[in-house]
Amino acid sequence: MTGVDETAVADHYTVDGLETLILDALKRSGKLNTLSPIDLAPVDEFHMGGRAATQHVIGMMSLPSNAHVLDVGCGLGGVARYLASECGCRATGIDLTAEYVRVGTMLTQRTGLADRVELHVGSALALPWPHATFDAAVTFHVAMNIADRPRLYAEIARVLKPGGMFAIYDVMKGPKEGLLFPLPWAETEETSFLVTTGEMRDLLDNAGFEIIREEDRREGALKHHRERLVAQSAAGGPPPLGLHLLQGQGASLKSRSMVSMLETNQITLEAIVARRLA
Ligand SMILES: C[S@@+](CC[C@H](N)C(=O)[O-])C[C@H]1O[C@@H](n2cnc3c(N)ncnc32)[C@H](O)[C@@H]1O
Repeated sequence: MTGVDETAVADHYTVDGLETLILDALKRSGKLNTLSPIDLAPVDEFHMGGRAATQHVIGMMSLPSNAHVLDVGCGLGGVARYLASECGCRATGIDLTAEYVRVGTMLTQRTGLADRVELHVGSALALPWPHATFDAAVTFHVAMNIADRPRLYAEIARVLKPGGMFAIYDVMKGPKEGLLFPLPWAETEETSFLVTTGEMRDLLDNAGFEIIREEDRREGALKHHRERLVAQSAAGGPPPLGLHLLQGQGASLKSRSMVSMLETNQITLEAIVARRLA
């Protein structure tokens, strides 16, 4: 992906005044003065299935509690804080969107995790760490924005220790053709680059990974989405804190397009755990 595409991706995700929006929503929910990482899950888990999906996919890796994990495309850092608070790991995140990293760092401090979680601004295609730095790595709903997949997985393989685990929870191209835009990750096809599960297996193989587990997460994500709709309709609208704060005015249209494509198999949702070969 060129620098111009990366700017377009960061612009897509940047929300002016995000810190104020989140702090106001936390105040309205009565959580601001006793904030814990789980309170942030409605807004800091920007992937289908939310916190339940994070628990499930991280659980597929069987990490030792002191592992140092890299969260590539960390967004606000929800997965990184989950790894630190629930799994006893040290987590380092990197993301293109400077506003997410700034707000995510503030949320890490407010949840008392600054000694175990750090977030950096940067590109997944040029990771600023030496070879064999991390015990494990994750990408949660990130690769859809990245055209140069061989470079992405080569970079992750480079910074992982031999034998290190890599968990991927990403949207894939489904068997039925066609995409509806706008989507939560892209306004148009200019910044959307899906691959099929078969292509993904080849990409991992070529980057030096061995796939250990693979799961179709479509049903879990659809169930989570339906439950959220029922809760919102019972409450007469979305709760103060939610992904609508990150997606702006078109939030419900973007979610509807994604869910409809998942239902019709234009996209699929996969969790894959792979090991970096020595
Ligand atoms: C849908 S959000 C997911 C955020 C986070 N992983 C989560 O699950 O909450 C996608 C994130 O990927 C980041 N991203 C996309 N392309 C990237 C790249 N080339 N390098 C680093 N981050 C990238 C975006 O800035 C955005 O924060």
